[in-house]
Amino acid sequence: MPEALAFNLNFLHPLLMAVLLAGSGYALVLGIRAKKTRTGTPEQRKELIKGRYAQRHYLAGSAVLAVMVLGTLGGMAVTFLNNGKLFVGPHLLVGLGMTGLIAIAAALAPLMQRGNELARKAHVGLNMLVMTLFLWQTVSGLQIVGKILGQA
Ligand code: HEM
Ligand code: HEM
Repeated sequence: MPEALAFNLNFLHPLLMAVLLAGSGYALVLGIRAKKTRTGTPEQRKELIKGRYAQRHYLAGSAVLAVMVLGTLGGMAVTFLNNGKLFVGPHLLVGLGMTGLIAIAAALAPLMQRGNELARKAHVGLNMLVMTLFLWQTVSGLQIVGKILGQA
């Protein structure tokens, strides 16, 4: 592969992940509204049901899951293309960890739909951890972008 192409690919992953951060925030808002639809007062519920928040959250969450898996694999692929190796550091390990956590959270969906409270709590807890790690991952990711620009 031409070197210039491999180098420019370095910026695809950060851009994709920035979009994913926004998408995850959107999924979170939909999830909170889905919860309110379940637990609100009868008048609130009547209004909120029209928003179909649970269904929209499921769809947005599934998209977030897919993009996170592909984005992580892509980040590793581009790192390997440019360096002939991976850097076993915080950004790699936290990234793999986040991808594992969100996959488990998504796998709880069938149980949540059967009304399993433990699955619901685990889903929210796991994904809140993912969101927190995402902020941290953005900081370490931007540091890597800084390093790459420094080499250019
Ligand atoms: C906006 C946030 C992020 C920024 C700015 C960022 C930036 C970067 C950069 C510059 C690289 C070097 C390779 C490349 O450019 O393709 C990289 C690698 C990587 N990123 Fe990210 N990233 C972000 C978010 C994430 C997230 C959310 C994940 C996973 C959930 C992730 C997982 C990875 C992995 C696994 C690598 C390969 C690291 C290695 O093998 O050394 N990144 N990231
Ligand atoms: C950005 C990551 C995510 C966050 C922050 C998040 C957060 C939430 C929250 C707060 C709820 C409401 C829980 C309650 O009603 O008490 C929820 C419910 C749910 N989530 Fe997620 N979620 C995320 C990703 C996903 C993914 C990846 C899937 C599946 C592919 C998914 C599927 C569901 C389902 C099926 C429900 C139950 C909706 C219902 O019928 O009430 N979520 N989520």
